Parts: sequence; C-alpha cells; structure tokens
Amino acid sequence: MSFDYKVADLGLAEAGRHQIRLAEHEMPGLMSLREEFGAAQPLKGARIAGSLHMTVQTAVLIETLTALGAEVRWASCNIYSTQDEAAAAVVVGKGTPEDPQGVPVFAWKGETLEEYWDCTEQILTWPGEHGANMILDDGGDATMLVHNGRAWETAGQVPPTDDADSEEVGVFKELVRKTLKADPTKWTKVSEEIKGVTEETTTGVHRLYELAATGDLLFPAINVNDSVTKSKFDNKYGCRHSVIDGLNRAVDVLIAGKTAVVAGYGDVGKGCAQALAAQGARVIVTEVDPICALQAAMEGYQVARLESVVESADIFITTTGNFNIITADHMKQMKNKAVVANIGHFDNEIDMAGLAKVPGITKTQIKPQVHEWVFEGGNSIIVLSEGRLFNLGNATGHPSFVMSNSFTNQTIAQIELFTKTSDYDKQVYVLPKHLDEKVARLHLAAIGVELTELTKEQAAYIGVDVAGPYKPEHYRY
Ligand code: NAI
Repeated sequence: MSFDYKVADLGLAEAGRHQIRLAEHEMPGLMSLREEFGAAQPLKGARIAGSLHMTVQTAVLIETLTALGAEVRWASCNIYSTQDEAAAAVVVGKGTPEDPQGVPVFAWKGETLEEYWDCTEQILTWPGEHGANMILDDGGDATMLVHNGRAWETAGQVPPTDDADSEEVGVFKELVRKTLKADPTKWTKVSEEIKGVTEETTTGVHRLYELAATGDLLFPAINVNDSVTKSKFDNKYGCRHSVIDGLNRAVDVLIAGKTAVVAGYGDVGKGCAQALAAQGARVIVTEVDPICALQAAMEGYQVARLESVVESADIFITTTGNFNIITADHMKQMKNKAVVANIGHFDNEIDMAGLAKVPGITKTQIKPQVHEWVFEGGNSIIVLSEGRLFNLGNATGHPSFVMSNSFTNQTIAQIELFTKTSDYDKQVYVLPKHLDEKVARLHLAAIGVELTELTKEQAAYIGVDVAGPYKPEHYRY
C-alpha cells in the first residue's frame, strides 16, 4: 500500500505507538465505541478530513474512526501542536517505517504558516475520483478554507490583497489563490461532496453560528464543544491540567507566591484560575461578562481591569477567544521577566505583531517556543509559543482521559451526521442529552464511580425516565 503523507520522521513511530497504547487505556469512551460499533462499521464510506492537533490522544481518535470503517486524512490545527511521534505512528499503522500502512497525516511540530495551509489543503484533496465527504474540525480552519474558497470562486474573484491583512490572512489568501489557479472550480467540487462538519472548540463553533446566521453555511454542523461532556470537562479540567504543564515545561518558575492574571473566566479561564490558585498563586481575573466576573469573585479571586494590575503581575494567561486582550502597550508596562501566554484558540489574543514593532525591541530564543523580548530600557518579558495556544505548543495538551470525553462526542457526532445526513439542515446542532449522558457513563467505571440508580417512584416524582435524560435542556451544570 502506498499513500502520500508528510510528517517529521517515521523513525519515531515506535515511540509514538508505545504512547498510543498507554493512551488507549486512559480513553475508555473511544475504546468502548470500537467495541460497540466495530462490527457494524457505521463510518464505512466516510472520507473524513480531520484538522485537529495531531497528538497522541488524536491518534486514538483517528484509529477509532478507521476502526469504525472511515477513511481519514489528517492535519494539525496549529503549527506547534503536533507530537511528531504520534504523527509517525499513525502513518505507519500496522506497517513499518519502510512500508507504512496507516493513515495519511500531514503535520509536524513547527510548520510555517505556508506549510500549515498546504497541509490543510492536503486533507481536503483526496486521490481518486472523490474528495472528503466529512470534516472533523478544531477551530474551523478546514471549514473556513472550503467556505471562503467557494465564496471567492463563485464571485469569480481571486482573493484580493489588502494592506490591512495580517500575515496569517495574507498566507491564507495566497493558498486559496494557488488552489484556484490550479483548479478554478476546486472548492465548489469539494464543498458539494461534504455531508457535514463536527466542530471541537468554542472559537470554531462561534464561526459556524456566524455562517448559519447569514445563511452561508454550506452543510450541517454538529457543535461538539457544547456537549456538556466536552466544554465542562476538556475546556475546564483539561486546561486545569495543561496550563501548569505548559508553564512548567516552558519556564519552570515557581508559581506559588506569584501573581497570575487570567483574562477571561469562561470554561477555560475557570480551569486555569483554579490550577494557578492550587499552586499557590494569587489569581486576578479580568472579565467583560458580569455573570462570569461575579462567579470569579465568589470563588475568591480579585477581579480587576488589566490596566490596574499589568505592572504588578508575574504571569498572564489569556483565555478569552477574543482578540487584542494584551496589547504591546500592556507588555511594555509589565514587570521584568513577566511570563505571557495564551491558551485560547487563536494567536491574536496577545498582539504579537504589535510587540514586534515596538521601537528598539529585541527577541532572543531561550528554547523552542520560549522567547525573551527585551525592551529598549532593558526590561524583558517571556512570551510562550509566539502567542499561540501554549498548552499544546510548550506541552502536550490535555491528558487522555479528558480527551476521551471530547473525542467520544466527536466520534458519535461523525456517526450521527454521516449516517443520518438527511435529518439535518444547514444549521448548527448539539448532540441530544441522552448521548451526552452516554459519553459520561462510558467514563465512570474506569475511575471507580458508583452511580446511584433512581427508583421508578423517584423518577416519576422528579418527572424523568429511570434511564435518563436526567436534566432539562436549559440546565447549566
Ligand atoms: P468561553 O466563552 O466559555 O469563555 C471566554 C470568556 O472570555 C467569556 O466569559 C468572555 O466573557 C470572556 N471575555 C471575552 N472578551 C474578554 C475581554 N476583552 N476581557 C476579558 N474577558 C473577556 O470560552 P472557553 O470555552 O473558555 O474558550 C476560550 C478559548 O479557549 C476559545 O478560543 C477556545 O476555542 C479555546 N480553547 C482552548 C483549549 C486549549 O486546550 N488550549 C481547550 C478548549 C478551548
């Protein structure tokens, strides 16, 4: 069997396979889907283009999708988040580095932006007659490529250059220009084959709802992020783990006694604030939403504007999914050797472009994904992963058990959209609550949870079925 792929080094496959084997043990949700659906092959005929951090946990997801019958092509959704050994192991599969027999992966740690978009195009460009018919997205870049590509194509335009474009947007437009030059109807053809997309994260979901609101969504979408067993677990407990992991692997400064600012107190912010406080940091939260601000205050955190605390804090973590949270001006005012990092999906929470333009500033690489930016006066700050999500850039993202929850939702969502396509309009859906509860149920035994069962009488008294769902749709957990 021969197929195209691009990873750092297939020689890393054995190391990756050992890690995948251990991860499988920690991912009971995915492993039980393999048992439940392995024989029925519900994803037979699915050609899934996956754009999601190419980590060890994602390897278990990919191999679950193929175990259920899917064909898959995969890229990472961030230039720094790939674990090269995981990528190699997925490509090698049951073969050897000389004779790989796994899945085409296009991902390595430290891609350039050009390479990143080339890889994203690769997952949507299949050999043979047919292209991808499903997208599994994280942050929405694969979905955006199809939508913008097609929009520019039907308007009969190549994407126009604009002086205001960031480097990122410029590189993206160049990729679309290149693809349209090679095949002027490429994105219409690609989009027409796609039955649906399942989206992993808050930021990608936000993009999908915008497309649906303007009537521009080209195919149905399942919002995986807002399964309770995703956002209230991965975003919160996952970040609670990986925010510390990222800081330690990057700078290893003692967190205890330091002042840490967490910008944003949504699901990610809640996990980050709790982890930093547990390490002994004094945590200050910034928020725009009065409900989240009040929640933070009730947990005992100081809630302040960034301007009030920017000169005194030691660690800054952005978690907002919004842009321009920490500006170059803020960074100029920070304490010497303050650590600045973003855990939100995109790299525009910290104004890296503005920082690079500060007169007299110099940048020194301490090690990969750790840079010291020295201002003219001699003060410096340490920026992690160039402002990109640092829990995946400086560490290895969330641990397997929590990702098993997220990816079990992803797999169920893929089965749902692929097998029941005609039940869905070009809208954004969340999975029904009984499936959300199923995902949680699949993770209980592994951690020794003994669940209480309702009696028939109790169920009737609170108006639910003995087997669930146990809560109304509007319940917030
Ligand atoms: P969320 O919507 O629950 O929380 C974001 C919070 O930021 C909101 O409470 C909002 O009011 C606040 N906010 C917005 N603008 C602000 C501003 N200017 N100043 C202060 N606060 C502001 O979203 P969630 O789920 O917490 O996700 C946040 C980001 O993290 C998203 O980009 C998401 O895609 C990403 N994410 C990253 C993960 C990772 O492993 N690195 C895991 C999960 C999500």
